[in-house]
Amino acid sequence: MAKKSLQDQPRVSPVPKSGFLWGVSTSSFQIEGAAHIDGRGDSIWDVYCREPGRVKNGDTGETACDHYHRYNEDVALMRDLGIDAYRFSISWPRLLPKGRGAANEPALAFYDRLIDALLAAGIEPWICLYHWDLPQALHELGGWQNRDIAGWFADYAALVAHRYGDRVRRFATFNEPCVFTLFGYGFGWNAPGIADADALHSAIHHVNLSHGAALEVLRAMVPHASLGAIHNRQPCFPAGPNADDAAAAKRFSRYWNDAFLYPQHFARYPSTLAEAIEPFEKPGDMARIAQPVDWFGLNHYSPHYIKAHTNVIDATFGAPPPDVPRTTIGWPIVPDAFRDTLLDIHRRFALPIYVLENGTASDDAPNTAGHVEDAGRIAYLHAYTDAMKEAIAAGADVRGYFVWSLLDNFEWTSGYSQRFGLVYVDFPTQRRIPKASARWYANLIAESRRCLAQPITGNPTEPAVAKR
Ligand code: FCB
Repeated sequence: MAKKSLQDQPRVSPVPKSGFLWGVSTSSFQIEGAAHIDGRGDSIWDVYCREPGRVKNGDTGETACDHYHRYNEDVALMRDLGIDAYRFSISWPRLLPKGRGAANEPALAFYDRLIDALLAAGIEPWICLYHWDLPQALHELGGWQNRDIAGWFADYAALVAHRYGDRVRRFATFNEPCVFTLFGYGFGWNAPGIADADALHSAIHHVNLSHGAALEVLRAMVPHASLGAIHNRQPCFPAGPNADDAAAAKRFSRYWNDAFLYPQHFARYPSTLAEAIEPFEKPGDMARIAQPVDWFGLNHYSPHYIKAHTNVIDATFGAPPPDVPRTTIGWPIVPDAFRDTLLDIHRRFALPIYVLENGTASDDAPNTAGHVEDAGRIAYLHAYTDAMKEAIAAGADVRGYFVWSLLDNFEWTSGYSQRFGLVYVDFPTQRRIPKASARWYANLIAESRRCLAQPITGNPTEPAVAKR
């Protein structure tokens, strides 16, 4: 793709030539750093990181990849990859340090600069409104457990739409709502560290309501908006051959795969969750939640193997069968499950699918020549993109694929111990080194462009832009 110079910088998102988008994804808390610069407020993750024992090695998001200051260098790395699109999230507590009220102009200006740099590099910005960094000030008012959050979130969405809607048209409301509700409010494993059934069920409903409220605002304010949410859909298999694990796998899947997709797409909760969520529902909520979206955002890494347990949902992660290989973070490597998930989503939701996260952690380190030879990541990405091609050949309407992640970054409770980047980050110096997988991905993209306009097996006449 021809890259634009800074002088002829486009003012709106570029339209990809091939119709299939190759991209990378990141999130604000995991890369930005600058935690106390230019008026940013605390998020629940800043507070969580300060609690002893919560995050490996006591790591925090204080500096992370210092992307706040190095975004230009990072956009140049993306340009070298040749990607079409970059998905990032906006830090709500950076824009609104108290979560609501007065906006923080230096923060607004930061995302202006980032978006303009992306457009100048010919890269389409995809904004995710919420990737887990709730303003602490709102958490202190009840956060996702307070129904008022739908209004606070809609106001925040309006601020983003007003400021960036002239240049950005792709917006996602939430990243992986099932993960941050279950881990943060059900299991107590992630910020804010709550393990309580009512907290979990109220958070689920209020996140759904906030999704609907934000869609209303974005549709009204952004011309040609292309909207969706990002869901982590994964098959849940029983870890053992017993009836308890089989029942646990079903229960787990209701929370993981259905608690958001049912209301958002079918205007109801799955029957097994309805009773627990009913106390938080009001008339009219479902109509607000179940608004049309333009695409299905999928994050997928692996299937789950689930066992019975005594927690709020009586189910937790078990071990995969011994013959299933795993990544360094312990996640099973099963590309066939990715292919099957894509086909299943295609059949159930009949929407264009964008894979907005896929990738792997690995034990990367520069060798004596200063190169990072991450053969394991290349093998993983190769197998998973092949599985995606199989799904497309079998009819799945997949329109894009984004690797998680551009950079090694703050991997939540694993801190900096798990490296997911195509680009190695030497955290003490912040030096970036593109890994062998970055070259591999750049070649894959270039190769798919050479087969233009049929990048993989998609229909070249298909519109690049999803229709509602
Ligand atoms: C996903 C998260 C993302 C990152 C990857 C490895 O579940 O959305 O922030 O942590 O896993």
